[in-house]
Amino acid sequence: MVLKVCVGSSCHLRGSYDVIEEMKRLIKEHGMEGKIDLQASFCMGNCQNGVSLKADEVLVHNANKDNCEELFLTQVLPRVK
Ligand code: FES
Repeated sequence: MVLKVCVGSSCHLRGSYDVIEEMKRLIKEHGMEGKIDLQASFCMGNCQNGVSLKADEVLVHNANKDNCEELFLTQVLPRVK
């Protein structure tokens, strides 16, 4: 599955770099390298609710480094085939 993290200017200011680093860590911790393709993305048009993610094109709002694990477990892992 494809996990995109928005690195547009608004999400960047809200900490998308930290979200990417945390997602990298979680992918590794769960042995999901090769199953989850982590990508950076331009603005997703959801700046008010950033950091924005897309898990297989499903928009996920309000990611931050503190809720990454919860989002990973509830929004990302269930979409891995
Ligand atoms: S900058 Fe991330 S949704 Fe716009």
